[in-house]
Amino acid sequence: MNEADAAQRTAALLKQRLGARRPRIAVLLGSGWSPLAAEVEDAVDVPYAELPAFPALAVGGHTGLLRAGHLGGVDVLVLAGRQHAYETGRADGMKGAIRTLAALGVQVLVQTNAAGSLDAALRPGELMLVSDHINVPQQSPLFGESGDDRFVDLSAAYDPALREQARFAAARAGIVLHEGVYAWVMGPQFETPAEIRMLQSFGAQAVGMSTVPETILARHTGLRVLALSMLTNMAAGMEARPLSHAHTLATAADASARAVQLLVAVLQALEC
Ligand code: HPA
Repeated sequence: MNEADAAQRTAALLKQRLGARRPRIAVLLGSGWSPLAAEVEDAVDVPYAELPAFPALAVGGHTGLLRAGHLGGVDVLVLAGRQHAYETGRADGMKGAIRTLAALGVQVLVQTNAAGSLDAALRPGELMLVSDHINVPQQSPLFGESGDDRFVDLSAAYDPALREQARFAAARAGIVLHEGVYAWVMGPQFETPAEIRMLQSFGAQAVGMSTVPETILARHTGLRVLALSMLTNMAAGMEARPLSHAHTLATAADASARAVQLLVAVLQALEC
């Protein structure tokens, strides 16, 4: 089965499972954001393992579950778990999943992630709206695609109108929402202090190991994208303490209640 067929077949299968639901918004949960899934009401769950176009997930903490339901009264599809490029060395792990969303009629992809802060003013536990990205490894999930539409315009990859709505929602909810550029690195190792100084000089405010491939895939299929980062640590060399995945997850756990509150407020404010 080729990729396009897998996405169509997966969308057909999901339509059966979702009944009359036709969510226009999908939320892709990154590290630190998984408690959001527990807030979904009237949930219908489908494990990724039952969805031919979805990836098999290997990393602990990522359960690989698609949950449809209502969040703050908004009809959504929540994707708990993504395949990262550091698992396979390839950036196209979520290609089938994103194309399935498009085939289902989803219009907006809201991405969430955990990221390191490159800016002394953005502290661990705080939240950042992604205004733009830097694809540091220059990898693409579209390698091997044909057709002129592979030359995707990314000049407004993170939808300006959706960003305005997110800023408004955060202000109304009284939650500080920074805004900045997200630099994507392959990982899985953290960066060196020299790499962090390079990324700062590039003009990035945050660094992480996800999101950018899915943004490219989403823009390629015509989905609008909004992305939110939870800053879980100061990047390498900015503070004396060493970096660890466990520390990232611990900070994320502390910050997740506010992150979930923000996300629900944002979903309620999105016009799509
Ligand atoms: N670097 C890369 N990815 C990350 C970091 C970091 O410091 N923190 C959370 N994800």
